[in-house]
Amino acid sequence: MLRIVVCVSGGGTNLQAIIDGIKSGRIRNAEIVRVISNNPNAYALERAGKNNIPGACVSPKDYGNREAFHEALLEEVRKAGPDLIVLAGFLVAIPKKMIEEYRNKIVNIHPSLIPSFCGKGYYGLKVHEGVLERGVKITGATVHFVDEGMDTGPIILQKPVAVEEDDTPEKLQKRVMEEAEWILLPTAIDAIANGQVEIRDGRCRIVGNRKDRGIS
Ligand code: GAR
Repeated sequence: MLRIVVCVSGGGTNLQAIIDGIKSGRIRNAEIVRVISNNPNAYALERAGKNNIPGACVSPKDYGNREAFHEALLEEVRKAGPDLIVLAGFLVAIPKKMIEEYRNKIVNIHPSLIPSFCGKGYYGLKVHEGVLERGVKITGATVHFVDEGMDTGPIILQKPVAVEEDDTPEKLQKRVMEEAEWILLPTAIDAIANGQVEIRDGRCRIVGNRKDRGIS
């Protein structure tokens, strides 16, 4: 069983997609052992509670400096003994030490087709605002491993989503979630849990029967 820690900051719809994926069998051989939030009011923590998953809050406000917050966050992760850490709308820069300790064991979902609309300043609704401002016709979502850069790690899966004429950032965000994020994240986790993801020379390859798992 792959032991997963999910890190969240807000609503937790991606967390919900993982919970539902495990329940339905779409994600095989995996369990969520802890949900960690930097925000005590994150609805994601309530979702964890409703599903009997231990939740914890490590808020930067409770620590004197960034270093102490990072140490507390890392300690909370270590306590759970994860095989995989999933950043599901976790809007905090990951401490360098955590990236080193969990190399190729941290994945992130980002609501655009990386390398477009990613990196500094692009998170949550801001990504979709940028997409609409630039007038691109296709956006989407990406699941990738986390390295020292911002949204620069090896890409595991991507899915395109069409931008519509009358989109607002909110409408587009919802469509990207429904058509891409909530499908991609469970699919990527299932592939990792079942030894189907290989990383070579900074690039990912899905091995095994892709069609079976709904990966296109
Ligand atoms: C999601 O759209 C996720 O892709 C995004 O935050 C949202 C969280 O929603 N993450 C980023 O922008 C990371 N750079 P959720 O709490 O409902 O899953």
